[in-house]
Amino acid sequence: MLCRVTITERQRSCFAAHPDRSPLLVVDLDVVRQRYEDLVAALPGVTVFYAVKANPLPELVSMLVELGSSFDVASIGEIEQCLAVGAPPERLSFGNTVKKADAVRRAAELGVTRYAFDSECELEKLVAHAPGSLAFCRILCDGFGAAWPLSRKFGCAPDVARELLLEAARHGLRPGVSFHVGSQQFDPAAWDRALATVADLRAELLAEDVELELVNLGGGLPGTYLEAIRPVDEYGSDIVAALRRRLGPDLPPEMLVEPGRYLVADAGALRCEVVTVARKSTTDEHRWVYLDVGMFSGLAEVMDEAIRYRVLTDGADRPTGPVVLAGPTCDSADILYETVDYQLPLDLRAGERLYLQSVGAYSTTYSTIGFNGFPPLDVEVLG
Ligand SMILES: Cc1ncc(COP(=O)(O)O)c(C=O)c1O
Repeated sequence: MLCRVTITERQRSCFAAHPDRSPLLVVDLDVVRQRYEDLVAALPGVTVFYAVKANPLPELVSMLVELGSSFDVASIGEIEQCLAVGAPPERLSFGNTVKKADAVRRAAELGVTRYAFDSECELEKLVAHAPGSLAFCRILCDGFGAAWPLSRKFGCAPDVARELLLEAARHGLRPGVSFHVGSQQFDPAAWDRALATVADLRAELLAEDVELELVNLGGGLPGTYLEAIRPVDEYGSDIVAALRRRLGPDLPPEMLVEPGRYLVADAGALRCEVVTVARKSTTDEHRWVYLDVGMFSGLAEVMDEAIRYRVLTDGADRPTGPVVLAGPTCDSADILYETVDYQLPLDLRAGERLYLQSVGAYSTTYSTIGFNGFPPLDVEVLG
């Protein structure tokens, strides 16, 4: 079975109630609630830490606090946002491997007890400022099978992780391991490959009498874009089987997952407007369709055409032809899709409204504060 998303009735009513606002992103929290409940059911025994960076809207974070979610945070700013809407500090995990010493000190003062690290330099900050905390070392992942790989910048090789974790334990920190299989990961087997590495590392640490207290399965669960994806319960059963195979029967005391995209992407529908339709040559059948939304107004993940939003028009059965989609700024980087095959109606005109689906993740905070004089992305939240 493959997944489909639609613009919800509530989102349609919201667009109708605000005819003059464009571009407008409408985030339906009912969709987030459903995704959260589906994930909790799919991953028994694994605690969900929502990756706040995917969409930090206060109403959304507050709803997840009420549902019982925990939170992966990337900065003191995100910690304060979570605390402000009632998340207790023991439900936060400081998952950024790049932190100023001051940020660690402040997080510890605020009561945060879980920290990611992947280098000696970061470990020293944890030893100095977050004594006794759960320190989990992020290991490198190749990111194969993911649309947005997150490889290279974060994590270290397992032999480095081994030395760092032994050092962490010697300093009284509680050792854990994390990985991220790459965002928008199409292949559930990616977790099995990473867990095989974790299992080897766990055995090496055990040989030195050091027990892993936490395994963090990271993010990577997909949203519903142009490509077909498998439903979350299939990811769940594959991941649970991999956990048992690699780390069973005595699983580490704490296991967590940090979904961002999966929880919020499909909750966002974006309505935008066609500003210009242009033909560049008599021989190229592609039309250039310029929208009032683009790379700098929230859709940064179109970079390298990695994340491919579904685009809808009103009215069925209109003959279509190929298009290049671009944003409204005077910057030549502001192109959404030039190589991926997008087709739009041949009678498309300036002023027509289009809808982009699954824009709820990595959009609201990615918009610039005023590049070319365009305002940040306009957002409505349906609670
Ligand atoms: C540490 C960490 N955890 C979780 C996530 C969420 O990843 P995803 O949106 O693919 O679920 C990210 C995303 O960058 C991350 O950096």
